[in-house]
Amino acid sequence: MIKFVYPGSFDPLTKGHVDIIERGAKLADRLIVGILMNATKQPMFTLEERIEIIQAGISHLSNVDIIPFDGLLVDFLKQQEARTVVRGLRAVSDFEYELQMAQANRNLYPEMETIFLCTNVEYSFISSTVVKDILRHGGDISHLVPEESIHIIEKILGGKENGSGSTDGN
Ligand code: PNS
Repeated sequence: MIKFVYPGSFDPLTKGHVDIIERGAKLADRLIVGILMNATKQPMFTLEERIEIIQAGISHLSNVDIIPFDGLLVDFLKQQEARTVVRGLRAVSDFEYELQMAQANRNLYPEMETIFLCTNVEYSFISSTVVKDILRHGGDISHLVPEESIHIIEKILGGKENGSGSTDGN
């Protein structure tokens, strides 16, 4: 059984992430979306919110699981009995960080591999950071995140504006 792990912060999921998840899921029997629980940077969305947004955006895929993880990615791989990490590359500027991460991971766990999928060019400018920036300024994100996730993001942010949610430190 070919099992891939696609790790990330997903704060929040973007159309670029979905592109990588769809294509990765075609190459594997099972793809695990590994959500980093405690990213060092303060996320805009809680873990539960990020999961809800992802669930909505990938509900059309049957061989994808969403599993939170904490600590080292290589330990999560071992725990999931997976040896392959998938990451997307949008531009050359992504490469340096991704190469360093892939090499650090392999140094810790030589049996693993990282494979890179080149992001579809129409999504190459999209990042969670761009989405959050637009959200903070009340702009339109409908072309950046999956259609199915938009109302969930709006519901979450509406709740936070009304004072019922956590505040964003990033
Ligand atoms: O979406 P992101 O924020 O670029 O994803 C980064 C992520 C979660 C893949 C990376 O930070 C990670 O794997 N963190 C877990 C800690 C770890 O294993 N660090 C050592 C490798 S650099």
